[in-house]
Amino acid sequence: MEESKPKYTPGEVKEEDIVRIPDMKGNIKEVIDVEGMVVPCHIIRNGHIPDMRENLKKIRTMKCRDDDIFLCAYMRSGTHWVWEIANMLTTGKLEYLTKPKESVMMEFHYPEEFDNIPSRRILNTHLPLRLLPTEVKEKKLKVLLVQRNPKDVTVSSFYFLQKAKMMPFQGNFEEFFMMFTTLGLMVSWFDYTLEAEQAVKDKELDIHVLYYEQLKKNPVSTIKGLSEFLGTDRDDEYIAKVAEMCSFKGMKKANEDVKNIEEYMFEKDLMKGHYRKGEIGDWKNTMTVAQSEQFDEIFSDRMKDSSFKFDFSK
Ligand code: A3P
Repeated sequence: MEESKPKYTPGEVKEEDIVRIPDMKGNIKEVIDVEGMVVPCHIIRNGHIPDMRENLKKIRTMKCRDDDIFLCAYMRSGTHWVWEIANMLTTGKLEYLTKPKESVMMEFHYPEEFDNIPSRRILNTHLPLRLLPTEVKEKKLKVLLVQRNPKDVTVSSFYFLQKAKMMPFQGNFEEFFMMFTTLGLMVSWFDYTLEAEQAVKDKELDIHVLYYEQLKKNPVSTIKGLSEFLGTDRDDEYIAKVAEMCSFKGMKKANEDVKNIEEYMFEKDLMKGHYRKGEIGDWKNTMTVAQSEQFDEIFSDRMKDSSFKFDFSK
């Protein structure tokens, strides 16, 4: 499955920790519970990312800098987009970074690998918010939470994972849909989002929520709000340029021309395909009407107490 050499020591999984769950085709998948996340055993065993059991402990006690920024999102919600924007805001340079977002992704590295990165660091993660370093809460460090309507997240994740080596999905969309609306990927979108909403309500984190759809429809005002939150004080002209450079077209081209994907060797092919369509409501091209109605039912049940509002169409 994966030809390149593992960067980390492959982890061993004890027989008693393994949980075997059948997929839709009756194949048995081996998973392990890591702090409430359902982690496929092969991710621990193949050594392409740090052993999550050890790394989550390291992340929890990680020493942070006062100006660190933690960009959090469920996968396929616009993390690359906001990361590039936030970097242009903090550096004050209208340039795409040559390093890929994956090079500062917390679950893909041990925290000490970020020690030599100059400030201001913008680290990113798909881990649930409770797994952030404890200093994020203690020091009230800046957290960005990117939200996207979950129908587009589902469809975007389906196409993405077909090409992924780390978490490959070879079934059809119906099978993916069943998996995504129940278990999700390590954590379900519903659990992730409800937990994040609780964190916002509890006011224990200094958190700014951005919606993919708002960023798409009103890039300038959304980036302005982000700039104010980060205290980067960029003027309107600068912000308009950031919006333009970070449009879908601009970022897709930068991914091909500027990004040094050699800096993150694992999943090299996948990184070329990060920029798929970049639209709101593309789920309609893949989800059937019946699936959409089923999704609506699950959504209204799971999100009944939520005040987060999602925009499902253009
Ligand atoms: P699609 O698969 O719907 O195209 P993440 O960065 O969290 O992995 O999210 C990836 C999704 O964000 C993909 O969605 C990708 O195309 C979209 N995306 C990335 N950059 C974007 C941009 N500048 N504008 C709009 N969408 C963008």
